[in-house]
Amino acid sequence: MLERFLIVFVAIMVCIHPSYQRRQTFKCNDYVTETTSYHRSGISFRMGPHYICYLSNVIQVSSAIEIVDEIISHAFVDGNSAIIEPREVGAIVVKNSNFIVLPSQLFNKFRNLLVFRASDVNLRQISREDFRDTEHLTILHLDRNQIFDLEDGILMYLKRLQRLDLSRNMITAINEDTFSGCSSDLYEVDLSYNRITKLDYSTLIPLAHAKKLSVELNLNFNEIKEIHESHRVDHLTFEALQLKNNLLESFTCPDIKIGELHLENNRLQLLSFDNCSVEYLIVSQNHLNWLHIHGDLKGLVASHNKISSFVVSGADTEIYHFDLSENENINHVFPSLKEMNEMQFLNLSHSFIGVLEPETFTNMRELKYLFLKDCGIEIIPFEVFGNNKRMMTLDISDNLLETIDLHMFVGLDRLKILDISGNKLNKIDGFERVRSILPELSEIRIDGNRFECNDLRVILKTFEGLGINVIMPNYSSHSKSVSGIECY
Ligand SMILES: *[C@@H]1O[C@H](CO)[C@@H](O)[C@H](O)[C@H]1NC(C)=O
Ligand SMILES: *[C@@H]1O[C@H](CO)[C@@H](O)[C@H](O)[C@H]1NC(C)=O
Ligand SMILES: *[C@@H]1O[C@H](CO)[C@@H](O)[C@H](O)[C@H]1NC(C)=O
Repeated sequence: MLERFLIVFVAIMVCIHPSYQRRQTFKCNDYVTETTSYHRSGISFRMGPHYICYLSNVIQVSSAIEIVDEIISHAFVDGNSAIIEPREVGAIVVKNSNFIVLPSQLFNKFRNLLVFRASDVNLRQISREDFRDTEHLTILHLDRNQIFDLEDGILMYLKRLQRLDLSRNMITAINEDTFSGCSSDLYEVDLSYNRITKLDYSTLIPLAHAKKLSVELNLNFNEIKEIHESHRVDHLTFEALQLKNNLLESFTCPDIKIGELHLENNRLQLLSFDNCSVEYLIVSQNHLNWLHIHGDLKGLVASHNKISSFVVSGADTEIYHFDLSENENINHVFPSLKEMNEMQFLNLSHSFIGVLEPETFTNMRELKYLFLKDCGIEIIPFEVFGNNKRMMTLDISDNLLETIDLHMFVGLDRLKILDISGNKLNKIDGFERVRSILPELSEIRIDGNRFECNDLRVILKTFEGLGINVIMPNYSSHSKSVSGIECY
């Protein structure tokens, strides 16, 4: 009797063993309203309320089709045993499955589907016809698969598509017809981490023509060596064009307008914006020797190049964010810098300046953040910051300053943070008048200098008495120190 009971028990255990539980399933638990939004302009879209259903453990597509038939022939229920109609399903997410081709019958059964995600399911091929019944589909994620080819007009049936993610596949090329007929709401296309080697502006006409929502096209981490224009394009518009980590040696552009252009980590030696307009340009980690700053540019990050000069076109540049850090000797750029009246953020750290001219920052009345770390600066002329009444942060650490008189900083009425660490200072003249010169100063960093310990004690005590926070270094290897700051 007991034996028989044991056999039955073991049989039951085998049946509910985890390997048996990895059956194909289709579960709909979440009944939600989803919102998605545009990265730069912040326009947002609402979807639902609808069910999000999870299709799991499909071994091959034919079984997915069976599963769908089964779902449709019986009513299926959510976690609270409510009956769900296929038309209430707004999103399907595929997990732990192996597809090879898309189960397009799904789209036929779930006519109101807005979102379909099948990431990392071994998908090898997609075709235009797969999407024949996707009239409402808005978001399509097919990332982390092995798709290598995009058929012409691949998106032509996806008339409502807004976001497409094909990142981390094996796509080698896009041609003139790849995106033809795509939805005019398509505003995000992610093709990053593929194997695209060439880019032709004319292939982007369907994505970026002026009458559709302006697109964010991500081509980061491909193998693009050249960009050309096989035939003329007019008025293309990109919210963002991302080309970082490719193999570009030169970049020119035709009649296009780009909100944000990412070109960091290429091999660029030549950059030309003769006929196009770019608002924000990020071009760090390239081999540029010089830069052309055109009239529309508002922000420019060009750190880690070899820039020693630039040309500014147009009398009024609107540039307000400029990062020219980690370049070479940038002394020659100062005459042009002086014209940049709108500047709010300027980072010149780790580029060589040597001598600060008295008028360098005179016209930058809006300047709020100035970073001059490690610029080989030996002298700060008196009142060089006389016009910078809005400045809040000033970093002149790691330079060669031997003396500082706080009167050099007259004019910095709103300065909150001052960093003069890592220089050769043995005193700070006028420190006892710090409150009248820098009335809003709240933080100062002074370590890494050559103060005598007695002088340092007096300085620290004065700052402490005035409620100015002295930022401490994390460690000091020096044998003598006061409050963690080394001294002699
Ligand atoms: C800019 O436009 C002019 C006139 O349309 C044309 O001659 C020139 O080749 C264009 N330059 C670039 C870089 O496309
Ligand atoms: C200024 O540039 C340096 C070097 O590129 C960088 O490390 C630092 O973070 C930048 N500062 C700011 C505030 O962006
Ligand atoms: C000290 O280290 C912390 C964390 O490692 C860092 O956030 C902080 O900026 C450092 N402070 C200074 C003064 O370097």
